Amino acid sequence: DQTSLAYSVGITLDRFIKLKQSDFPFASGELSQLLRDIVLAAKIVNRETNRAGLANIGGAFGQTNVQGEEQQKLDVIANIRFMRALSKGGEVCAIVSEEEDAVIDLQNNSGKYVVAIDPLDGSSNIDVNISIGTIFSIYRRKSPIGSPIQLKDIMQPGREQVAAGYVLYGSSTMLVYTTGCGVNGFTYENSLGEFFLSHPDIQAPKTGNIYSINEGLQLEWEKGIAAYIQSCKERKMQSRYIGSLVADFHRNLLKGGIYLYPATQKNPSGKLRLLYEANALAFIIEQAGGKASDGKQRILDVQPESLHQRTPLLIGSAQMVEEVEQSVVLHS
Ligand code: AHG
Ligand code: MN
Ligand code: MN
Ligand code: MN
Repeated sequence: DQTSLAYSVGITLDRFIKLKQSDFPFASGELSQLLRDIVLAAKIVNRETNRAGLANIGGAFGQTNVQGEEQQKLDVIANIRFMRALSKGGEVCAIVSEEEDAVIDLQNNSGKYVVAIDPLDGSSNIDVNISIGTIFSIYRRKSPIGSPIQLKDIMQPGREQVAAGYVLYGSSTMLVYTTGCGVNGFTYENSLGEFFLSHPDIQAPKTGNIYSINEGLQLEWEKGIAAYIQSCKERKMQSRYIGSLVADFHRNLLKGGIYLYPATQKNPSGKLRLLYEANALAFIIEQAGGKASDGKQRILDVQPESLHQRTPLLIGSAQMVEEVEQSVVLHS
């Protein structure tokens, strides 16, 4: 029966947050509440993702976002759900979203936190029923609480994050997050509407046998990247590329591997966005013992210059990232 199921699958996210409350640098419960607000929206987006084909919410929304991408209906729906949850929660004063041109000031004058979010990652996979995700970063505001939002609240390097996480809407729905004290994974039990701890203290294998890159752009890679991928092929490594960053990242985090999105002609600074894709995953991978680099420096040390700036991203097992960085230097 459901009660025994609840106990047989471990502890709920709520119980875990309470247990870990003392880990939070600002143990006032607001960060816990903020995480709960995000999880509430994730449960709603999960349900809508699972019904997309039935509820006519698949397909294009009919507008282009600031990225120049054709927004999918679920991009827009997920964005609204997370913005609404964070606005109502009261803990967040400002949001940077992939789907919003400018910073959204929530007018929460008591809000101590800023959130950067990719509401739906892997949008090209929505209509073909392949895993998609949500990625989020959480910062403390730097300017006085209640004062107008300032650039220094928003343009913080990734090393300033107080928490980061992702939701993976896959064969099961998982939440993986860190508050700077390690990485923990939770699996959603639909029948109970709860996330249960399923992957405690995730450690990224130091090396791996999987590389993830869009081989279609091979002719555009810089020499160091091409040389590294060639060496992967000579070592008969496995090529695995889903086209949803969250899904590729999650597999490599658990099994060992490296995900690469280098500079290309179309995206000379890389395709992935620093504030709401690279920084969150970089915080998580480092907390799990892995690495994240733009080829020249640690992702978490990059000083943001603009909201939607892109970055090359090499992320995963520490030894594999170091190897690519060496190859880039050797061939530069
Ligand atoms: P988003 O759907 O949030 O815009 O992100 C898409 C990203 C990432 O999820 C994925 O790994 C990458 O784009 C795929 O890019 P290519 O199709 O160019 O390989
Ligand atoms: Mn997009
Ligand atoms: Mn994305
Ligand atoms: Mn997105």
